[in-house]
Amino acid sequence: MKKNCMHNLAYTSFALALSLASAGAMAQTYRVNVQPLIKAQCADCHGALAPTLAEFKLAEEKYKKEKLGPRTDTYENLLQIVVYPDSGAFMRRMDDGSNTGDKKPGNMYKYLGDTDSERQANLTMLKAWVGEGGWNLNRWGARGDVAGITKEQMDKVKVKY
Ligand code: HEC
Repeated sequence: MKKNCMHNLAYTSFALALSLASAGAMAQTYRVNVQPLIKAQCADCHGALAPTLAEFKLAEEKYKKEKLGPRTDTYENLLQIVVYPDSGAFMRRMDDGSNTGDKKPGNMYKYLGDTDSERQANLTMLKAWVGEGGWNLNRWGARGDVAGITKEQMDKVKVKY
């Protein structure tokens, strides 16, 4: 009886380890993982009523006062602040401080969740979506001490739909 129990326990842990491993290895997609998060946490200020990135850039101060940021309601709109033209803006604002020059979190990191563990879990998911080595904070062009984004860095960006 006892031996049997131990066997079952060992089997259960093994099955659990397997399912965790496959969940971790599974590729994140915009449709399944990213869109629901953006909709729940960001849409109040970046939703369909917010200006497009191009409109936002024409009157940044006006939109900031209205608490509106660039529209990220679709995959296409979101990619504009991940890859081009506002390369790395998403990473600069969402980073928890591990990759920023001043070690401070980006100013949108706080919207990733109510608790630190929630924010960290969502950040981990977003980083996996962007891709291993793709989480770079560089802009399209160099600014100050920070070099512009390179082709090698861009090649690592996955952002699967
Ligand atoms: C309460 C309103 C509000 C919420 C919620 C919010 N944002 Fe923002 N966001 C803004 C405003 C206003 C700006 C423009 C001012 C600034 O640059 O800080 C902005 C700017 C940004 C920028 C910089 C865009 C650029 O091209 O310069 C990014 C990236 C961003 N937000 C991402 C997010 C993400 C992702 C979420 C959800 C996890 C989020 N924001 C939630 C209001 C918000």
